[in-house]
Amino acid sequence: MKKELFVNNDKKNLDINKIYQGDCLEILRQFPDNSIDLIFADPPYNMQLKKELYRPNNTKVDGVNDEWDKFGSFEDYDKFSILWLKECKRVLKDSGTIWVIGSYHNIFRVGNIMLNLGYWILNDVTWHKTNPMPNFLGTRFTNATETLLWCSKGENLKKYTFNHKLMKQYNGGKQMTSVWNIGLCIGRERIKGIDGKKAHSTQKPEELLKRVILSTTEQNDIVLDPFFGTGTTGAVAKKLGRNFIGIEREKEYIKIAQKRIDNIKILLSESSWIEPKKEKQTKVPFANLVKNKIINSGEFLYTRKRYDKKARVLDNGNLSYDNNIGSIHRIGAIIQQTPSCNGWKFWYALKNKKAFLIDDLREEYIRGGYGL
Ligand SMILES: C[S@@+](CC[C@H](N)C(=O)[O-])C[C@H]1O[C@@H](n2cnc3c(N)ncnc32)[C@H](O)[C@@H]1O
Repeated sequence: MKKELFVNNDKKNLDINKIYQGDCLEILRQFPDNSIDLIFADPPYNMQLKKELYRPNNTKVDGVNDEWDKFGSFEDYDKFSILWLKECKRVLKDSGTIWVIGSYHNIFRVGNIMLNLGYWILNDVTWHKTNPMPNFLGTRFTNATETLLWCSKGENLKKYTFNHKLMKQYNGGKQMTSVWNIGLCIGRERIKGIDGKKAHSTQKPEELLKRVILSTTEQNDIVLDPFFGTGTTGAVAKKLGRNFIGIEREKEYIKIAQKRIDNIKILLSESSWIEPKKEKQTKVPFANLVKNKIINSGEFLYTRKRYDKKARVLDNGNLSYDNNIGSIHRIGAIIQQTPSCNGWKFWYALKNKKAFLIDDLREEYIRGGYGL
């Protein structure tokens, strides 16, 4: 798909919804100035891993030891970072913004370079990993965070997109903070090779990109990711009705990313990413259903119709799941790894081997009128 752009009054075409194969520096140089609405960059970490790491049971830790992450020296890494960040600044619209994610290995070097290039930091968001890899050697604290720098092209460029109200709604009516609790990408979302191993060592969770793209773009905007990997940015952009451009050096990753994006058939409207506004309705706490034995203490509630996760109902109307105890909403949010969850629309109870949404059971209870 081509998008027509006017650059210095010349019409130029930019291929969008496409993954470019090659070095991001060379490819970025072919893009017109001022043409991109948002950049999300997840560059090499330059981890400088010197030796293999093993778990206490002697199995090898599958860390980031890829060729693409290796640089001869910090100086080489900085030179590379300066070049790609300069190109990004050139292709980004004045109204556009950039997100760069990194760990303690690289984010301070990258942040320093960004400030030197004139970028203006709008937020440093902490991604708090709710399921981090333990520090097997016990030599320091478990490393459970990465940092995202969200920047405009300069201090005086203030016409950038920030969907404040949307994010507040997404966060259950509360203003969202710069600490995001999201798990590492695992389970069904994690792409595996035919050998069953992770297809990419640093695939990011879609929830992270969901927040980035929802908060800082509009529908049909162009989102560029110069380090595309498995294409998480493209997948989420497509689901949210945005356009994407990916750049990736490794052909193998491009195949994976293209297949992932092609398989997305259902696009999500913004309203379906957000809790619908509560209709005026008689308020019935879940505990009342337990008290009145519509749902029994000790029985399980199940997620969706496939029953893949279950939580036990406690006497006081809370749920117990793994080591977590909380309301139907809180436990639902933990399972979905989202900031909020409408537990009434999330949990199912089994009655005579048939699954009922607890919201429907509540309706029936209200109609029956007991205990109100
Ligand atoms: C940290 S990973 C990105 C992972 C991605 N965010 C995801 O969710 O799958 C960095 C990616 O950048 C690619 N890469 C590294 N140097 C590159 C370069 N100079 N040009 C293009 N791609 C590069 C690597 O092959 C790797 O897939």
